[in-house]
Amino acid sequence: MPTASIISFYVLTLILQAPYIHTKDLKSSCSTCRQITDNFNKGFDRTAKKNFGGGNTAWEEKTLSKYETSEIRLVEILEDLCDSSSFECNQMVEEHEDHFETWWFKRKSKHPDLFKWFCIDTIKVCCPNGTFGPDCNGCVGGSERPCHGNGLCDGEGTRGGNGKCSCNRGYKGEFCLECRDGYFNEQRNDTFSLCTECHSSCKTCTGATHKDCDECKDGWEEDDNEACIDVDECSKDSSSCKEDQYCLNTEGSFSCKACDKACSGCKGHGPDQCTACAEGYTEDGGECTDVNECEQPETVCTEEHQECRNTVGSYTCECSDGFHEEDGVCIPTSDEQQHPSEDQQAHNANKPEEREEL
Ligand SMILES: *[C@@H]1O[C@H](CO)[C@@H](O)[C@H](O)[C@H]1NC(C)=O
Ligand SMILES: *[C@@H]1O[C@H](CO)[C@@H](O)[C@H](O)[C@H]1NC(C)=O
Repeated sequence: MPTASIISFYVLTLILQAPYIHTKDLKSSCSTCRQITDNFNKGFDRTAKKNFGGGNTAWEEKTLSKYETSEIRLVEILEDLCDSSSFECNQMVEEHEDHFETWWFKRKSKHPDLFKWFCIDTIKVCCPNGTFGPDCNGCVGGSERPCHGNGLCDGEGTRGGNGKCSCNRGYKGEFCLECRDGYFNEQRNDTFSLCTECHSSCKTCTGATHKDCDECKDGWEEDDNEACIDVDECSKDSSSCKEDQYCLNTEGSFSCKACDKACSGCKGHGPDQCTACAEGYTEDGGECTDVNECEQPETVCTEEHQECRNTVGSYTCECSDGFHEEDGVCIPTSDEQQHPSEDQQAHNANKPEEREEL
């Protein structure tokens, strides 16, 4: 029956989600409670100097000491415990208003820590440090140093969570005493572990230097002294870069870099590292430099009234002074245009006759 299976699917989903929702609620109840007691303490400090004129007349002394423990002061503090928008906070204060009164008038001197009295011992939404869950059991690794100081205990300080550790960077295992790959134990006993990062050349190691690797990382290899040294990928496999690139070795790797534009193939950075010069460049003093096409014996701009202008790696053909280009030929500029505006000059200059790409 499809309907029955849909219903059972939803029931199952609810059952599976219930513990999660529950534990999340328990954690947030504790942080709400902590916020309330923090605000209570702030309110307590804020009201400390109220109704006190600064003098010390007998009348003022008397009024002040009355106010210190008064219901008026309590109400003033209670008014400011929550943001008006925080539903959970306002609900918790409303629900437990009696407790604040009890503490204020009867418990305060014996139990001065409101957080402990209210959140942990009375409404039981929090637990002492190092403990978690409904009964405030010790975290994995013990309540003194949860997770042996190398991780976070799930639900610590709340009535939620499962007390298990999520270990800090470099640590692993149920107790956060073991080192992850890439880390080694610098100190270790049954209750204490310090994991330190291996040298960048090691995958696994027993010490801090490149000589202490158990296994080298990719891009590194063992030398004769069993130390891990960088592999020069460029000397081994030069074909891994494209023709207009050169290979650059880096620690543990390599990269392909673009050749200078004067080069057609190169061994490194710059116009002096070309294996051959690019079109429009020629070798001069160990470097590929621009060819000045306009000074070659053979004229390159062959149309009438044209002038050659050299550019880096190429050249352009432009109309001489007094001429402008129309449909690919240079024609005399008419009387009206004898003194062309700057705009037109710029326009002409921008429309040179480009050499055919070779
Ligand atoms: C509990 O832990 C919090 C946060 O780590 C810390 O500020 C507080 O001082 C601790 N309280 C005790 C009693 O150790
Ligand atoms: C383990 O080592 C830590 C740090 O060196 C030390 O404080 C602790 O007393 C040692 N514990 C034992 C059981 O040896």
